[in-house]
Amino acid sequence: MWPYPTILAHRGGGTLAPENTLAALRCGWSHGFRGVEFDVMLTRDQEPILMHDPVLGRTLPGSGKIADHTLSELLALDAGGWHSPAFAGEPVCTLAQAMAFCRQHAVWMNVEIKPASEAVAVATGTVAALALKSAFADAIGAHVAGHNDATLPLFSSFSFEALMAAKIAAPEIPRGFLVDTIPDDWQQQLQILDAVALHTNHKNLSERQARAIKDAGFGLFCYTVNDPQRAREIRGWGVDGICTDRIDLIGPD
Ligand code: G3P
Ligand code: MG
Repeated sequence: MWPYPTILAHRGGGTLAPENTLAALRCGWSHGFRGVEFDVMLTRDQEPILMHDPVLGRTLPGSGKIADHTLSELLALDAGGWHSPAFAGEPVCTLAQAMAFCRQHAVWMNVEIKPASEAVAVATGTVAALALKSAFADAIGAHVAGHNDATLPLFSSFSFEALMAAKIAAPEIPRGFLVDTIPDDWQQQLQILDAVALHTNHKNLSERQARAIKDAGFGLFCYTVNDPQRAREIRGWGVDGICTDRIDLIGPD
């Protein structure tokens, strides 16, 4: 159900580095993590970058929407200084750079498709899927249909439409449906997406729900677990994997 690393560094390096940057990926890797989660969003010119917020202001200086800025405009900004002076000048990371880093260092990826709005959900899912399909063409070629292993990354998204688009563009790359609160029809949604896992907020998960998801044969992943005791508790419920911001306290596998 979950052939992947069980503890992932959230947004690259958790809170120890500026989220969704190459510096964050290096930080997670240097802490021994061999699995990472990051967010992918499109720029105005449809370039996939690692980004969480749809607007500037928190991790990038300035204001306005990410979707109104071109890649070259965003690459000119400081994506690290907000975190701490040591990371000042760290640039925005492209999806291509993140994939290259992870492949080079054998870091498995949970690629969260993060459309800046539902209007660009299909475009974001399609672009991300085609990029991964190209980067992992060799692994897809060697992959045995129906056999789930860690040679391929895993998509996740809160956007059903984005995941459907990823399924159409790169059906070979598995999908996890990401929800804050588990809906009553979770199993039906997973089936439509042909998803291998449900990803959910650990704060809203009950033991009964966890066991039902596992009994139904799906992987179960929780975000964002920062307390080691809580991590042990939900793992005891059958939760397969978690991501954490506290890579100094939890993990790696
Ligand atoms: O993919 C799990 C987690 O990253 C979802 O929440 O807001 O941190 O992207 P967020
Ligand atoms: Mg995320």
